[in-house]
Amino acid sequence: MAIISSKQFPEPTNPPAESPSAAPKATPATGKDQSENTLLKPNAEPEEQGNQEEQLRPQRLAEYLGQKDLKEVLGIAIQASKVRNESLDHLLLYGPPGLGKTTMALILAAEMGVNCKITTAPALERPRDIMGLLVNLQRGDVLFIDEIHRLPRVTEELLYPAMEDFRVDVTIGKGTGARTRSIPLQPFTLVGATTRVGALTSPLRDRFGLIQRLRFYELDELTQIVLRTAKLLDTPVTDSGATEIARRSRGTPRIANRLLRRVRDYVQVKKSGTITAAIAAEALELYNVDPCGLDWTDRRLLSLMIENFGGGPVGLDTMAAATGEDTQTIEEVYEPYLLQIGYLNRTLRGRVVTAAGYRHLGYPPPNHQLPLLS
Ligand SMILES: Nc1ncnc2c1ncn2[C@@H]1O[C@H](COP(=O)(O)OP(=O)(O)O)[C@@H](O)[C@H]1O
Ligand SMILES: [Mg+2]
Repeated sequence: MAIISSKQFPEPTNPPAESPSAAPKATPATGKDQSENTLLKPNAEPEEQGNQEEQLRPQRLAEYLGQKDLKEVLGIAIQASKVRNESLDHLLLYGPPGLGKTTMALILAAEMGVNCKITTAPALERPRDIMGLLVNLQRGDVLFIDEIHRLPRVTEELLYPAMEDFRVDVTIGKGTGARTRSIPLQPFTLVGATTRVGALTSPLRDRFGLIQRLRFYELDELTQIVLRTAKLLDTPVTDSGATEIARRSRGTPRIANRLLRRVRDYVQVKKSGTITAAIAAEALELYNVDPCGLDWTDRRLLSLMIENFGGGPVGLDTMAAATGEDTQTIEEVYEPYLLQIGYLNRTLRGRVVTAAGYRHLGYPPPNHQLPLLS
C-alpha cells in the first residue's frame, strides 16, 4: 500500500494518466524533434517527485499564488470550521495536472493544524488498504486521495459511510453466520484530486461538500510563481525574464518551475548572470520550447487539422486517431490549453482551428470573408 506521510514524500507516485505517447511517431509537421516534449509535460517527472518539487511547494494559503476564487472559498471554509471547531468539509479538487491540487491539500492540513495522509486511488486495491488508513486518522486529519476517479468499486463503497457518518462497516464471518459491524472513525476531511471529474460516480461526487476547479494560471500569476521559485533557488531573474519563462509554461506552475531550472542551467554554463528576457528566450529556444508553450503534439494536432481537415470541425476521436494520442489525453491535457490560448474553438460539430492557430503555425488563415468560388 503506497501511503506516504506528508512529512516525507508528499507527491505520491503518479503513474501519469497518459497514452503511450512517448513512443516515437511520424515526423512532426513542424520538422522539430519531439524530444522537446518532456519539458512541457504537465505530469511530474520522476526526479521531480521527491525533494525537488517539495522544496518549491508553497506551505501556506498566503504563499499560494493565483487561483483567487479557490483561495477565497477555501479561506472561508477554513475559518468557519475553525470557529465551529469542526473538521473541514470533504473537498474535491479537479483540473489538469501541475496546477497545484496536491499543494492545496497540504496547505489545507497546515492551515487547519492537522496531519495530511497522502495516497493515490490505484493503491487502494483491497478493502483493508482504505480501512487501515481510515481507522488511523486522528481528529480533523486530512486524507488526500489522488486520482480519485480511479478508486476501485469496493473501496469507494467503504468510503460512503466513512465520509457521511464517520464510520466503516465491516463484515465478519462468512455465509449465513456473517455479521456486519460498524467501526466509528474520527471526524476527518477527505480531499480528492482528479483530472477527470466526469469520471467520478455521482454517489461519490455528491458526498463532497465542496467541489472546486483549478484553472490555468494567467501570465501575471505565473510570472509571480517564477519570481518566487527563482528566489527560493537563489537565481537572479528580471521581471521580464520571469514573464518570458511564464509565457511558455502552458499556464502550469509545474512547467514554469521546470523551465526556470533549465534556463538557470543555461545561465550557469554561459556565465551570463541574471536571467533577462533575452537570455530566457535564447535558452528556451535552444531547448526547442515554443514561444507559446506549444509542444510537439499540440503542433501536430493543429497542423493535421489544418492540412487534412481544412481546419475543422474535427471530432475528438478523429483528433486522437490522427495524432496517435488517446482521446482522454487530448481532452484533458492538449485541448484545454489550446482552448485557453485561443488556438482552438469548440463548436457543436467538433473542434476548429482559429485564425490565431493558423498564424502561429505559419499557415495563412482561412479567409471566411470571401465568398466561396466554385
Ligand atoms: N499556486 C501556486 N503557487 C506557487 N507554486 C505552485 C502553485 N501551484 C502549484 N505550484 C507548484 O507547482 C508544482 C506542482 O503542483 P502540484 O500541487 O503537485 O500539482 P497537481 O497536484 O495539481 O498536479 C508544485 O511543486 C508547486 O511548487
Ligand atoms: Mg498532484
